[in-house]
Amino acid sequence: MRIQWLLAVFVLLGVAAAAQQATGLVNTNLIRTVSLANLPYVMEQIGVVVQNDHSSKVFKTYTLPAVDALPLSSQQAFERKSGVELNIVDGKAVLKKPLQPGEKLSINVERVLYTGAMPVGRVGQTEDQVWEWPAQMVSSVYPIRKQKTVVSVPGEIKQHVNATVEGRKATFVAPGVIRFKANGVQLMATYRREYFVSHWANDLNILDHYDMRSLAPQPRASFDKVSQLMAKFMKTRDNFVKTLLVKVPREAREMYVVDEIGNVSTSLVASAREEFKVMQLRPRYPMLGGWNYTWWHGYSVPLTGYLRTEGTKYRLRVPFMGSIAGCAESQDQLTVAMAEARNTLVSQYELRVVLPEGAHDVSVRAAPTGDIRLVPLKYYLDSTGRTVVVVEARNVAPGMADQDVLVEYEYPGWALWQKPMVVGGVVFVLFMLASLVNRLHLGLATREAGIKS
Ligand SMILES: *[C@@H]1O[C@H](CO)[C@@H](O)[C@H](O)[C@H]1NC(C)=O
Ligand SMILES: *[C@@H]1O[C@H](CO)[C@@H](O)[C@H](O)[C@H]1NC(C)=O
Ligand SMILES: *[C@@H]1O[C@H](CO)[C@@H](O)[C@H](O)[C@H]1NC(C)=O
Repeated sequence: MRIQWLLAVFVLLGVAAAAQQATGLVNTNLIRTVSLANLPYVMEQIGVVVQNDHSSKVFKTYTLPAVDALPLSSQQAFERKSGVELNIVDGKAVLKKPLQPGEKLSINVERVLYTGAMPVGRVGQTEDQVWEWPAQMVSSVYPIRKQKTVVSVPGEIKQHVNATVEGRKATFVAPGVIRFKANGVQLMATYRREYFVSHWANDLNILDHYDMRSLAPQPRASFDKVSQLMAKFMKTRDNFVKTLLVKVPREAREMYVVDEIGNVSTSLVASAREEFKVMQLRPRYPMLGGWNYTWWHGYSVPLTGYLRTEGTKYRLRVPFMGSIAGCAESQDQLTVAMAEARNTLVSQYELRVVLPEGAHDVSVRAAPTGDIRLVPLKYYLDSTGRTVVVVEARNVAPGMADQDVLVEYEYPGWALWQKPMVVGGVVFVLFMLASLVNRLHLGLATREAGIKS
């Protein structure tokens, strides 16, 4: 009887061991480090030690640990020891060298996520903004032997559940939650940029259209002008976004800003650095949590700085998108450096490059991200129409404003004359028609005159 029991236990153990072996890879230790210092973006790093526990199987790929329900904006994987970046295909990192039975490998995964923290309650005009971040444990298709999550926040931690808190750091080994103070501006935009290329005028016209929303907690009471003025006077902070800082190229000219009501007042500040200027745009009303503001602005730059040519082939290199930052500071506290704050996330982005009429064999040689398509467009006074390069992207990662998009096209010399010729032709025909009509009129007039006399 005893022996039969023992046998049964052995068999069960054997089955369990086989099950373990079948999985093969094991995450022996996993540490996730999350930074909420740059909200609304969440920066996350997962360092994991992967072991091949299988007796014979060799692994060429590693399925990356699962992300929270948050939208993923970018993801990279590296071999920790060598720092070599690993290709990611369908959520699997392709290993540089297959992992043999018994071998271990350390992998770092770096991610940028969106809107990680939720505002808590409503907030008074000058009160602290409090945010909540739910800590979930990392999940994986492979067993995880040990894991922890370390979160750093920009302000005081006010409440926590299942966390060990030390200053502005909270450590979790089980699901939990923290509430913390974060008074920085957080904005979210739907953004469209259009480039109009004109060889004829040596002009690159740029138009930026924004639908902007403040992600701050909703205001507790209705807008209180007195408290706002007090806050301004006392130079204490408040929860209103009063200025939007837009970086524009140094050579930008003919700048304008228009919203649904009309022109918006702006001012320009030259930066200490040579490459850009900063436009200070003041929305018609300060933006409170949940409030929207919609506007567009535009300017021109000389095309020559962005276009290279080889015979009839043209190469246009332009920034993938523009850069914008919101500020709650009062006017006299603004600095150029604030324009570099990455506090505005772009949930939906559309880039449109309108090429000159006659441009053909269009190809997009490089776009940092997004779905690319070419669409035809008939523009004012066009005869044959033109091609528009459209790139659409969602949850755009911060830093995309520093990347370029490269468009190549053929553009024959005569195309430059296409519009003036067509326009000239039309004007000539109209002129001929007008003189014909005139003649008819004159004829009638003389005949009438003839009858009268
Ligand atoms: C805290 O941890 C316990 C045990 O793991 C769990 O049951 C509970 O749901 C956790 N609380 C939160 C808020 O996640
Ligand atoms: C808006 O600005 C443009 C250019 O600065 C100017 O020509 C136009 O008259 C302004 N419109 C209004 C309504 O102020
Ligand atoms: C603000 O914008 C959001 C997202 O674009 C939209 O869902 C919401 O209805 C807008 N609110 C107002 C008051 O316009």
